[in-house]
Amino acid sequence: MGVKPKKVVAIHGSERSEGNTLYVLQYAEKILATRDVELEIVRLADLRMTPCGPCGDCNSRTVPCAVQDDVAAAVEKMAAADGILYAAPVHGFGTSALMQAFIERSGVGYLRFERPLTNKVAGVIVTGRRYAHTEVYNHLVTNVLLNRMVLIGSGFPAIVYGNQPGDAQYDDEGLQMIDRMVHRMVDMMELIAEHRELTGRDALDTDRANERDDAWFASRRSPIG
Ligand SMILES: Cc1cc2nc3c(=O)[nH]c(=O)nc-3n(C[C@H](O)[C@H](O)[C@H](O)COP(=O)(O)O)c2cc1C
Repeated sequence: MGVKPKKVVAIHGSERSEGNTLYVLQYAEKILATRDVELEIVRLADLRMTPCGPCGDCNSRTVPCAVQDDVAAAVEKMAAADGILYAAPVHGFGTSALMQAFIERSGVGYLRFERPLTNKVAGVIVTGRRYAHTEVYNHLVTNVLLNRMVLIGSGFPAIVYGNQPGDAQYDDEGLQMIDRMVHRMVDMMELIAEHRELTGRDALDTDRANERDDAWFASRRSPIG
């Protein structure tokens, strides 16, 4: 088949640049390479990222965030990719502060206007010592679904246990879930690309209207009742 998926962008949400989350992403990178797909890892710790400030006008803005930092460029990278991986450690029973800041800034500041990640194939990875992994997993899944991505599962979720840097390599079952999820992501990306090539159109609805677009909702309202 001619058109193949080429690239996945991973958002790496740990402050520890060489820790377990990076190990798992590099593991995913090797699997993707066997399928001829490149992985670009965006380390949030390396970005110039300003947390949301007191302006408080997000909900009334009709244009992207006015703050000038590296978040817009990261969003552009994601919008140009075939697939997205969100990978974050559990911090304080929740999502790491870096990833949380990115979700707020990218989501409220950019993604919600035209949902540019619509129909990207997405996977969620969580690393952590022992407690509240599922909370973080659910949080990131919510973000994937809000952005109308195609979420890929792996049976047991792609959660990898480990505390000290290097521990992740010993969680065989966690790494098996990464393996399965990444292969399934590539399968789905290929399916979407093949459908586009064969039919000349996308397999899924590409409507980019946002949730505040009343005209869109009126046009789609069920004729029943
Ligand atoms: C500030 C902080 C808070 C943490 N809170 C939790 C927690 O609530 N639950 C847990 O299982 N692990 C927790 N951990 C452990 C990390 O999730 C674990 O070390 C993980 O492997 C870190 O990934 P990294 O090496 O990519 O940074 C915490 C670590 C830090 C630094």
